[in-house]
Amino acid sequence: ISLKPYNSFGIDVKAKFFAEIFSEDELKALFQQELVKTQKLLIIGGGSNVLFTQDYEGLVIKISIKGIESEIAGDQVTVTAGAGEVWNDFVNYCVQHGFAGVENLSLIPGTVGASPIQNIGAYGVELKDVFESCTAFEIKTGKFSTFNYADCHFGYRESVFKGALKGQFIITSVTFRLSAVPKINTSYGAIETELQNRGIENPNIADVSAAVSHIRVSKLPDPSTIGNAGSFFKNPVIEKHEFADIVAKHPDVVHYTTVDDKVKLAAGWLIEQCGWKGKVVGQTGTWKNQALVLVNHGYATGTEVYSFSEQIIDSVKATFGVELEREVNIL
Ligand code: FAD
Ligand code: EPU
Repeated sequence: ISLKPYNSFGIDVKAKFFAEIFSEDELKALFQQELVKTQKLLIIGGGSNVLFTQDYEGLVIKISIKGIESEIAGDQVTVTAGAGEVWNDFVNYCVQHGFAGVENLSLIPGTVGASPIQNIGAYGVELKDVFESCTAFEIKTGKFSTFNYADCHFGYRESVFKGALKGQFIITSVTFRLSAVPKINTSYGAIETELQNRGIENPNIADVSAAVSHIRVSKLPDPSTIGNAGSFFKNPVIEKHEFADIVAKHPDVVHYTTVDDKVKLAAGWLIEQCGWKGKVVGQTGTWKNQALVLVNHGYATGTEVYSFSEQIIDSVKATFGVELEREVNIL
């Protein structure tokens, strides 16, 4: 079957086998089939963080387990959502119920189940800030287990599921710890500005959600019209002494200091400085409003996008001495 409808880059590759799973029981039953035991496996949710560079010679399992439940205890609320819930539907559910904590993560594409994989983050909040636990199916044993916060080893766009346990567990639900009382985070400058433009002085979580959504739509291409997977690279994190060399030559380099006293550079800025912003190269290129996003102008192949990303890496390395690392999962 063609995977084109199942990846936000809109790359037209085929999967040898494909299954869509709607419950934990179905998942368990699937793994009792002999065929499944012999196949290479790929789990997908919304396919919004993958780049296919070839046909998938194995079984693709799309997780569509639904359901949202919440439990209020005093000022706190725990919300458990099925891995196949669309992330933004879950955010809207929380905003509508007045559960604070995920409104800054509005409009991130993909599913709840993928949110811990790379510890999704945007506008001053990361998944780890609201994560309580998740349930996951172990492929090798066919058993379900619970991962608490400490088990997940979250970092910037990192978790144990992308690292040591890569490919071993399938997340089936995620439990979040949110606030049942108003609590907002407008520390990210762009949100403050957007709220001011709207004349809102005392924003509620719905206002924050609307502001974030507005900023995102203005910067990022909509995958339903222009294929993409959001930021293609991570923002590089470097040591202070390395930064000193860069800032000496490029005084206006956009950067942030991290909690562990390193320096994070804006990869979009580095790429733009190298002259790539808005460039169209064959069927691919970078987005005109955000150079960190690589796009498919219609008929790009995965290898074309991948080769283009190599050119960008080489060019940034030559100009700044910094090695960009891909954020998107390459298959
Ligand atoms: P997929 O692309 O389907 O899968 C991603 C990875 O997770 C794969 O390795 C897959 O095998 C694995 N996986 C998926 N589901 C499961 C599961 N249930 N169990 C085990 N493994 C699983 N990300 C951000 O962090 N911040 C942003 O601001 C952001 N903005 C974006 C904007 C756009 C326009 C786009 C297209 C993407 C953006 N992203 C952003 C990236 C993407 O939205 C996230 O990575 C999201 O979590 C991917 O979800 P998905 O369900 O589509 O995952
Ligand atoms: N910039 C440029 N040129 C560009 C793009 C950015 O100069 O073409 C500079 C600007 O100075 C801008 C700064 O970089 O102020 C930061 O840009 P932006 O606010 O767009 O954020 P980002 O660092 O490029 C990160 C995440 C996004 C997330 C936003 C908002 C990564 C890899 N990306 O992007 O996540 O939405 O912050 O918090 O950390 C994603 O992961 O797919 C994603 C979109």
